[in-house]
Amino acid sequence: MVKTWGNNKKYHSGRDYSTGYIPVGTNLERTVLMKKVLLINASHRKNGNSEIIVDTIAADLKDAEVTVFKMPEKDCRPCMACAACQGKETQMCVQKDDITALLPVIEECDSILMVSPIYNQQITSQAKLFIERLYPFFHVEKKNMSNTSKFGKKAALVCVCWGSPKEIVEKYAAWTVSGFSQMGAEQFKSVVFNQIPERGDVKNREDYMQTVHELAGWLAE
Ligand SMILES: Cc1cc2nc3c(=O)[nH]c(=O)nc-3n(C[C@H](O)[C@H](O)[C@H](O)COP(=O)(O)O)c2cc1C
Repeated sequence: MVKTWGNNKKYHSGRDYSTGYIPVGTNLERTVLMKKVLLINASHRKNGNSEIIVDTIAADLKDAEVTVFKMPEKDCRPCMACAACQGKETQMCVQKDDITALLPVIEECDSILMVSPIYNQQITSQAKLFIERLYPFFHVEKKNMSNTSKFGKKAALVCVCWGSPKEIVEKYAAWTVSGFSQMGAEQFKSVVFNQIPERGDVKNREDYMQTVHELAGWLAE
């Protein structure tokens, strides 16, 4: 079995695979080459538009190491502002929940995607809660105010909604996704899919699904 790995040659030391094929026989090759992508579903509606987008991207990313974190299925508690995480060199949090367990994945990932519905003109409270839990990455004296050891990550935010004014939600989404700079993100994308109020509406929009596939490509590039 052979596989091309495109632009990932920089993850090899000294070997240039850009013009050839790499036999995918060893775990080492895969481990070194595979991008680590974290996908967050911040909608509580089962089989809703957000979940469909997350599942579609996860299915597209066959050659990446994908972690899917569906907030409704996880124990996700709010930041208590106890500040126990502050001033530390590594990310730690005293909360004992699934977001704390995810912190090493957040640190190690190459890209993160969050999908959230718009509720009352904003991302869901779950989505906001997740971003607030990035506080263990906050370090006021460090580059980009982040204590991550891994900068250059990509972050994408997809907002799905009904009838809110698209251009306003787009500005809001572009601002909101910058919150992921805390965890070392330096490249950002935000997308708004409007006029999809019902569960599964997104599947009937070819243009939106095309954008979803393109986003998957960008996350794993
Ligand atoms: C409580 C609530 C508030 C909502 N507020 C808005 C809103 O302010 N603007 C909007 O365009 N859509 C709003 N919607 C519609 C959802 O954003 C829309 O149905 C979306 O597709 C839901 O995504 P999901 O299927 O992933 O859960 C709201 C829906 C709910 C349940």
